[in-house]
Amino acid sequence: MNGDRLSEQVEYYRARAPEYDDWWLRRGRYDAGPEHTAQWKAEIAELRGAVEANGVGGWVLELAGGTGSWTTMLARRAAELTVVDAAPEALARNRRKLAALPRACPVRFVEADLFSWAPDQRYDLVFFAFWLSHVPESHFGAFWDLVASALVPGGRFFLLDGRYDPAVAGLAGSARPDGETSVRELADGRRYRIVKVFREPDDLALRLGELGWSVTTGVTGPSFLYAHGSRALG
Ligand SMILES: C[S@@+](CC[C@H](N)C(=O)[O-])C[C@H]1O[C@@H](n2cnc3c(N)ncnc32)[C@H](O)[C@@H]1O
Repeated sequence: MNGDRLSEQVEYYRARAPEYDDWWLRRGRYDAGPEHTAQWKAEIAELRGAVEANGVGGWVLELAGGTGSWTTMLARRAAELTVVDAAPEALARNRRKLAALPRACPVRFVEADLFSWAPDQRYDLVFFAFWLSHVPESHFGAFWDLVASALVPGGRFFLLDGRYDPAVAGLAGSARPDGETSVRELADGRRYRIVKVFREPDDLALRLGELGWSVTTGVTGPSFLYAHGSRALG
């Protein structure tokens, strides 16, 4: 069941790549009105501020980089960047965005399944946006082992993700998940089952503490949460 859902999740993001940025930019089916869009943009600005305040530099690994909403920001600040994602259609868009930047560090794109991929080098920062909620509980520990194995001693992670916001929960066929499974619909009506585990900062900090991470969490409002940290000493 998990395997099916995880492959369907990749199929979904492959098919969704051409329309993915509509979600981020609150266009078309994702337009919930000017008030919501203003709130969304203000929260994105706060997220960017949180990423910058935490510091981006050195060798950076972006997991599930997708169409590049965050890759461009990372590529302007990192010394070297590796971007991993399972959807070639998303990576192609990401590449095009990077090519349009006047200044970017060297970037390596890796098309791979994060549930079986292992890093071949270590990084100062592991960054992932809107990814952790797609990791099922059964893979949670193994995923954090992957993050740990990708970091140099003292290296840090930064994650951000969506919160469950009832005000926009019905947009574009995304209802509250039934357990860990959510059904998503593309603009043409095709439907996919994906993993969606909404988390909240306190619970996330507790879980990561149990796994040996020292973590700081925050929220920007109803839409997003973030967390950053490193392996606890001792
Ligand atoms: C919600 S999107 C986030 C993309 C990007 N980080 C952003 O903020 O826009 C989730 C991404 O995870 C990727 N993905 C889904 N399953 C994956 C897997 N098993 N291995 C690697 N990437 C996967 C999808 O292709 C998609 O680009």
